Amino acid sequence: MEKVTIGPMPYMTVMPTVLVGANVKGKANYMTAAWSTVACMAPPMVCVAINKQRYTMAGIEENKTFSLNIPSASHVIETDYCGIVSGSQKDKTGIFRSFYGKLKTAPLAEECPVNIECRLFKTVDCGSHLLVVGEIAEIHADKSCLTDGKPDITKIHPIVYSQAAYFGMGKELEKAFSAGKKYQAR
Ligand SMILES: Cc1cc2nc3c(=O)[nH]c(=O)nc-3n(C[C@H](O)[C@H](O)[C@H](O)COP(=O)(O)O)c2cc1C
Repeated sequence: MEKVTIGPMPYMTVMPTVLVGANVKGKANYMTAAWSTVACMAPPMVCVAINKQRYTMAGIEENKTFSLNIPSASHVIETDYCGIVSGSQKDKTGIFRSFYGKLKTAPLAEECPVNIECRLFKTVDCGSHLLVVGEIAEIHADKSCLTDGKPDITKIHPIVYSQAAYFGMGKELEKAFSAGKKYQAR
């Protein structure tokens, strides 16, 4: 392969599209985020990079709780709306029906098949963005999206983000932690 340099930028091939939920001044607010992933196994943690200016960030700092909600492809319009409109300008409370779990102050979006409730663990100041790390207090999942008690992406239909566009899921290629056993040195 012939390589060319394309410059430093915040790039990753594919990213999950999530909705970060936080109560701001007592009202549920949801913000779209693509810069999110798992941060730790034990204790279970996730993280999301949030710009310091975001209205959502004020709510996370206020309550020390937040949620990551996994929207389905059927809610791509609502999801994008939460990413182009700020709660500081427009009340986003009614876009999703909110419920509360263990933490009481992290709003969870009913329409999203998986909701991850988080207690704020740490924020790391990286520059424009804070890397917000949350310890998972509970995961709420729609029964219809589980297979053998575990979230099943073929039922969740998550929204994949890449290069300013949303994509659906592709086909399973191989089984992880197992396909590598077929490797033969060439
Ligand atoms: C697809 C998509 C992904 C986004 N990812 C992030 C992200 O990871 N971090 C971030 O700070 N903002 C991200 N944004 C921008 C915020 O969602 C947007 O500024 C939003 O209006 C903030 O809402 P709030 O002010 O109510 O918190 C993204 C927007 C879109 C459309």
